[in-house]
Amino acid sequence: MPHAGPPVYLRSATAADQPAITRLVRDAGINPMKLEWYRFVVADEGGRVVGTGQVKTHSDGAREVASIAVLPEWRGQGIGRAIVATLLSLQPAPLYLCCGGHNESYYRQFGFTPLSPAAMPRSLRRIHRIGNALLRLVSLLTRQRERLVVMGQGIPDFL
Ligand SMILES: CC(C)(COP(=O)(O)OP(=O)(O)OC[C@H]1O[C@@H](n2cnc3c(N)ncnc32)[C@H](O)[C@@H]1OP(=O)(O)O)[C@@H](O)C(=O)NCCC(=O)NCCS
Repeated sequence: MPHAGPPVYLRSATAADQPAITRLVRDAGINPMKLEWYRFVVADEGGRVVGTGQVKTHSDGAREVASIAVLPEWRGQGIGRAIVATLLSLQPAPLYLCCGGHNESYYRQFGFTPLSPAAMPRSLRRIHRIGNALLRLVSLLTRQRERLVVMGQGIPDFL
């Protein structure tokens, strides 16, 4: 349901947002590593962080859209889409991301497509290999199968 409170707007994060960013990403159950505020764009509602996103650069130069999260009560109102669109508008292609298989269709709307291991940058191929090995172990305990997908956007044909 649309809310009747202060407007939500996107801005660059500041150091004061660090605790809120860390909490929001951890509570969303996504990768809790490398959450330094200075790479983040946040959705702000009256001074409260209700959504996050960043682009991280890996040691091989691959840039990864990451930490896309929206507070549960704010989902389904276009905040996630606005954050991803803003990050894409600020960064040159190509861009990559890692996501659970259940989120693959969400990222397709922004032009991301799943990559084979051969088409992944080295850094993301490693994350893909290790992440999927861990998920296979977890699935033995939980009997729920999830997979990690690496997607890319704006990748030149010759790569
Ligand atoms: C994924 C997430 C960021 C989406 O944020 P959001 O603000 O609810 O997304 P939006 O409102 O911008 O959604 C835009 C569209 O995508 C759809 N959508 C949302 N989540 C989706 C999903 N997992 N798969 C496919 N479509 C999805 C919405 O229904 C909406 O479609 P519509 O415009 O036709 O109504 C949010 O659900 C979230 O924080 N999830 C937990 C953390 C997470 O999984 N993050 C992704 C890490 S890879």
